[in-house]
Amino acid sequence: MTALSEIFSLLQNQLSALPKDAPSAKLIQQLITEGRLHHKISWAGHMTPAIEQPALLGQLLAGLHNGNMLSSELYPQLAAIEQQLLDWFCQLFEQPFAHFTHGSSYGNLDALWQARERSKNSSNVVYGSQAAHYSISKACRILGLNFQAIPTNEFGQIDVKALRTACQNTAPIAIVVTAGTSSCGAIDPIPTCINIAKEFNSWCHIDAAWGGALMLSLKHQHHLSGIAQADSVCIDPHKALGQPKPCSLLLYKKSLTNSSDIDVDYLTQSPKQTIGGSYGGELFLPLWCSLILSGKQSFSDRINQRLEQAELFAHALKKQSDWWELQSATGIVCFRPSTAVDLTHLINSGLLSKAKVNGQEVYRVVFASHTSQARPLLTALKSYF
Ligand SMILES: Cc1ncc(COP(=O)(O)O)c(C=O)c1O
Repeated sequence: MTALSEIFSLLQNQLSALPKDAPSAKLIQQLITEGRLHHKISWAGHMTPAIEQPALLGQLLAGLHNGNMLSSELYPQLAAIEQQLLDWFCQLFEQPFAHFTHGSSYGNLDALWQARERSKNSSNVVYGSQAAHYSISKACRILGLNFQAIPTNEFGQIDVKALRTACQNTAPIAIVVTAGTSSCGAIDPIPTCINIAKEFNSWCHIDAAWGGALMLSLKHQHHLSGIAQADSVCIDPHKALGQPKPCSLLLYKKSLTNSSDIDVDYLTQSPKQTIGGSYGGELFLPLWCSLILSGKQSFSDRINQRLEQAELFAHALKKQSDWWELQSATGIVCFRPSTAVDLTHLINSGLLSKAKVNGQEVYRVVFASHTSQARPLLTALKSYF
């Protein structure tokens, strides 16, 4: 029996063991239906994408393998696949080092930990925009750092003048640049922020959890130009690359600080100085299966497809002269109708969500899935035009 037919018969055995009318069978069916929400063409509520089928095979493989990369010497095949993926991302982002994480909350924490360990500045301050993800201030609290929020401009990007002034007052340990804010998808001016960080001897971390995917599209990667100069970058394939959670990477310029003071006698190698502990193929086999079965080009095609739909949606809203709208380069469109209307029913059915841009409440549409389309969203909004 080949390995693949073994997987099929395993699935078949599990399914046939379930009595059709058992409550658990119904619950499984309901769970599957609930998750299909992300495959609907009207899904644009949040950054959770429809999962690519090859990635599901990867999840299954990861479950069957269940190796622990803390003992990577036991799993040469899995280790080779992990390295192959890390090399590919390192080349793409022009960063020499990388590791997989369980999400960008961990990536941001790992990056700021490294920044703190290496900083020669006397302050404990970290700057980022007021639209930076909440995991940044959470990481600062864990690390005993002081996060100070810099105001944003009308496009939701960090105000670079205010950032420079703040740096002149207190040189920070790190500046966090967001490439794709959670609220409106804005990309902070990357080259300017990196230059400011260099001027003040500060670490520059780019939180590209959402926007980092653009790097895979030749058509859209220019929005991230300069990113190679950052000290660290995090990116979440589980947001904008059709991957199941958890799948996230942190890339960086300098190798991790020495962890030789951590002595684990039952492991053959010292663990890396990262937040994460045990992990296996669940972090990267789905991504690997997507790459080998669908190909790199399909990632790029799907990004372009998502952004085309975002463009169509924004274009139609722009025609409503009395509506306010803000289109980002990363596939999030925010808007406010001319008069106060209650769109709670559309939030509850996954078509959109609420957010704040510069303190103002707005509605937010997130093109995270390659299956999401502008048309059903515009149809749902038509009666308010
Ligand atoms: C910009 C940004 N950074 C970081 C995160 C945290 O990522 P995760 O949920 O993978 O921990 C998010 C989550 O939405 C985000 O939008």
